[in-house]
Amino acid sequence: MALPAPILLKRIPADPAQRRLCRWADYTATGGYEGLQKACTMPPGEVIKLVVDAGLRGRGGAGFPCGTKWTFLPKDVHPRYLAVNFDESEPGTFKDRYLVEHDPHALLEGIAIAAYANRITTSYIYIRGEYHRQAGILEEAVAEAYAHGIFGRKYPGTDIVHNCYVHRGAGAYICGEETGLLESLEGKRGWPRNKPPFPAVAGAFAKPTIINNVETLACLPHIVLQGAAWFKSMGTPSSAGPKLFGLSGHVNQPGVYEEALGVKMSTLIEKYAGGVKGGKYKAAIPGGVSMGVLGTDQYHAELDFDIGKKYNVLGLGTAGVIVMNDQTDLVLVLRNIVRFFAHESCGQCTPCREGTAWMHKMLNRIVDGFGRPRDFDLLMEIALSMGAMPGTTICGLADGANWAVRTFLQKFPEEFKARLKCGQVRGVELTATA
Ligand SMILES: Cc1cc2nc3c(=O)[nH]c(=O)nc-3n(C[C@H](O)[C@H](O)[C@H](O)COP(=O)(O)O)c2cc1C
Ligand code: SF4
Repeated sequence: MALPAPILLKRIPADPAQRRLCRWADYTATGGYEGLQKACTMPPGEVIKLVVDAGLRGRGGAGFPCGTKWTFLPKDVHPRYLAVNFDESEPGTFKDRYLVEHDPHALLEGIAIAAYANRITTSYIYIRGEYHRQAGILEEAVAEAYAHGIFGRKYPGTDIVHNCYVHRGAGAYICGEETGLLESLEGKRGWPRNKPPFPAVAGAFAKPTIINNVETLACLPHIVLQGAAWFKSMGTPSSAGPKLFGLSGHVNQPGVYEEALGVKMSTLIEKYAGGVKGGKYKAAIPGGVSMGVLGTDQYHAELDFDIGKKYNVLGLGTAGVIVMNDQTDLVLVLRNIVRFFAHESCGQCTPCREGTAWMHKMLNRIVDGFGRPRDFDLLMEIALSMGAMPGTTICGLADGANWAVRTFLQKFPEEFKARLKCGQVRGVELTATA
């Protein structure tokens, strides 16, 4: 079912010429902070229950139920922290940036509600290093929120003063992984941590910490104001609510669009993004390059949290959809993706550090025309060894690389095999070596 009207994007006009920054006065004139007011009239436990009942799943990539994560905080252990994940470095993903650069208070209200419900003392908004302008916008909005008593005050029924800070990253993809983020926040190298302990038990500065994505938090004011049943009336039984989809690649109108979860990819491309540009649809990455690729016959895939099981991809990820037309060289695309993972691997785990580098090397030689027939199976073997054995790596980056490689090879084998025939390269006759 299509959304009756924009929810998360309600203050951002579809027409780019009309868009402007929504400041405190604009936000509060259009119902802003009413969700926080209402939440503060409820016992904190009831707010948590509401979020559980709404079935809100994390919008940062993993789709973990938000309210359930909150219940993992150990009772009566303080201080507790909230780390807001605004690292947004997954290629093809720009939804959080779009929301914050136009409507920053939508995030801040969500933070305040989460802080009230979970008795948080300090929230850190960890923002991607390259987001200079957005960091400035956020700083100004945070100052407005302090000036109006949203932060730096005790919420009803508690002695805990809640403060909120903007913390700027330095441009490393791995700092979007939640424990890499915490290490970076603590001033250390952004190396993901072994789990357990999970951040809810020992997170930032070894204290209980909730980590949530920008969009996840921005859903909270709407859930508090309109209720769990309203939120669940949108989307599918396992994937409730509205969702921001970023469309890029070969589409006529790239951008961020809001729809109910479960919307077909073809609907997003045709109804919102103006159709495929420069050719026919060939393939698409559903939610950041870590998720793998959807094939030519998967154009009508429903984009919800069950997409992995149904379409042989890792998951919905960030819902940053990259569309590719039939002129696209998928070998070059995969080489580029693997180059990214090899560059961004933090190097702690051997399968990830070595595996991404090997795969990059192999794809380079395939692109250069020196691919060997056995390279197809070898690529697949390396990819699977990074993700098929749970627990061989500390974080999910390796599994993202695995899914990217394996799904490109599985869904477009001919395109890769055609490059392994060792024909002529720059006039030199090549011989296949097994
Ligand atoms: C390599 C890697 C990079 C990630 N980058 C981001 C990111 O930029 N933003 C984000 O919200 N989550 C990112 N995540 C997911 C986070 O670890 C975490 O699941 C998420 O922030 C939790 O918030 P949510 O439950 O509200 O989605 C990444 C995960 C991995 C493995
Ligand atoms: S899987 Fe890769 S990125 Fe993640 S901790 Fe291990 S080496 Fe680092």
